[in-house]
Amino acid sequence: MQIYTSVSNVSNWVGDGCAIAIFSNKTDKTDKTDSPEPLLTPELIALDQQIFAGTLQELITENEFKAESDSNVSSRLAGVSPIRKVLLLGLGDRTKVTAETWRKAAAAAAKWAEQNKCKTLALAFPFTEINKDEFVGIQAIAEGIILSSHKDKRFKSEQKANGSKLEKIEILGTDSEAAKAGILQAQKICSGVILARELVSAPANIITPEALAKSAQAIADNYSTCMSLEVLEKADCEALGMGAFLGVSQASDLPPKFIHLTYRPQTVTKKLGIIGKGVTFDSGGLNIKSGAGSGIEMMKVDMGGAAAMLGAARAIAQIQPEGIEVHFISAVCENMINGNAMHPGDILTASNGKTIEVNNTDAEGRLTLADALVFADKLGLDAIVDLATLTGAIIVSLGSTMAGYWSNSDELAAKIEDAANHAGEKFWRMPLEESYFDKMKSVVADFKNTGSREGGSITAALFLKQFVDKTPAWAHLDVAGPVWTDKESGYTNAGGTGYPVRTLVNLILNF
Ligand code: BES
Ligand code: MN
Ligand code: ZN
Repeated sequence: MQIYTSVSNVSNWVGDGCAIAIFSNKTDKTDKTDSPEPLLTPELIALDQQIFAGTLQELITENEFKAESDSNVSSRLAGVSPIRKVLLLGLGDRTKVTAETWRKAAAAAAKWAEQNKCKTLALAFPFTEINKDEFVGIQAIAEGIILSSHKDKRFKSEQKANGSKLEKIEILGTDSEAAKAGILQAQKICSGVILARELVSAPANIITPEALAKSAQAIADNYSTCMSLEVLEKADCEALGMGAFLGVSQASDLPPKFIHLTYRPQTVTKKLGIIGKGVTFDSGGLNIKSGAGSGIEMMKVDMGGAAAMLGAARAIAQIQPEGIEVHFISAVCENMINGNAMHPGDILTASNGKTIEVNNTDAEGRLTLADALVFADKLGLDAIVDLATLTGAIIVSLGSTMAGYWSNSDELAAKIEDAANHAGEKFWRMPLEESYFDKMKSVVADFKNTGSREGGSITAALFLKQFVDKTPAWAHLDVAGPVWTDKESGYTNAGGTGYPVRTLVNLILNF
């Protein structure tokens, strides 16, 4: 599928489907004598007469269409115009427009075109009058199209060839350099989102620690001018004293892999570390996830942090920003059971010398992250951001479409907030309530790996904090909820969502 911009307009475009996006027009409720402004702009009214024989106005009247966001109406035009079908897309209130408005509208248009067997689609969006930043607006439109059309059929035996007929999407009304650059940027970022989606959707018998390391290797090989990879094997991790990480991996038949992928531009003024939790399957260990509702069958998603970390790396390798060096890190293993499994109560020593009483083997993510954080902390970075499907408790707190985050730096928190807002990915800042760390007190070791159920995602964050020492700023993102979805919505299809690759990319580009 090709996406391109053109200076054509609807009146001289010929093709299968045309999506025209319009804003809603709320009557000012304080002045009841005022009738609402017409939904169609003067240009669209003229166009409606010229080439659609009044179909647009008919669609609005017959359907009482109000152009509210996520609403649309459409009609066949055969015989009336050189365009086969037309879609009127509601954008909602024009004062509430964000990049997310364009992503969702573009996704709705692309889906409609697919359902209506269109080979060609034109988008007539009023973005220029609202969003003077064409780069951002067109990037969002292209993201909506690319992400909504990604369908993962890798594990279906029948590879239906009919899929989508959509070949060309033409964004009408602009052909600026900024607009073209916006499409390119979206393609780079979405290739990272799609990588993350596919890594999360693939099951644990496919995405093993070795497979994740190979995925990192592919990025390093494809972009060898700026990317380099180091994979620490079990013996290397032993030499570094990574007892917490190795404790988790010790009951798996698959060897652990510690991934360290580095992006190095020509000039470096800042250094950032991104650490992703990479548990390719979380059985819970001897504190096994048992019974209906334990969710054990979904625990392939427990490498969602590492998947997003690799997705961001792939995007950054293509964008190649100057000035920022990025270290992409993951301590990858399975949390399994055999005769060599950690016993609940075992004491592990992490690579910074801290001792941990493992009172629950199912709180394994923080053990793997502990050694990854210590490793990153030695690299002389300006900031470390870790992301992890860390706790069920964060899903209880915030639901499954939002991530919680913690930071010891308001400056870094503001950057995350900004990056997430531009990406349309939801994040909510949570407190680092130090007094809760009392719950992690251990009689025999420095601390335990879990407290009580109360504030479970907060104590998890406090545990991680013990492993950051020299690095001036740190943030922890708990993404257990939004890395997966069972039902499609907007530009996200069912399966791995690729969350929060776009936030990470924005953060790196604006760090
Ligand atoms: N991988 C899970 C968290 C999780 C839950 C991810 C749901 C995705 C969806 C994590 O390792 C875990 O098991 N956490 C425990 C911690 C508890 C033992 C303190 C939890 O949340 O129950
Ligand atoms: Mn677990
Ligand atoms: Zn886990």
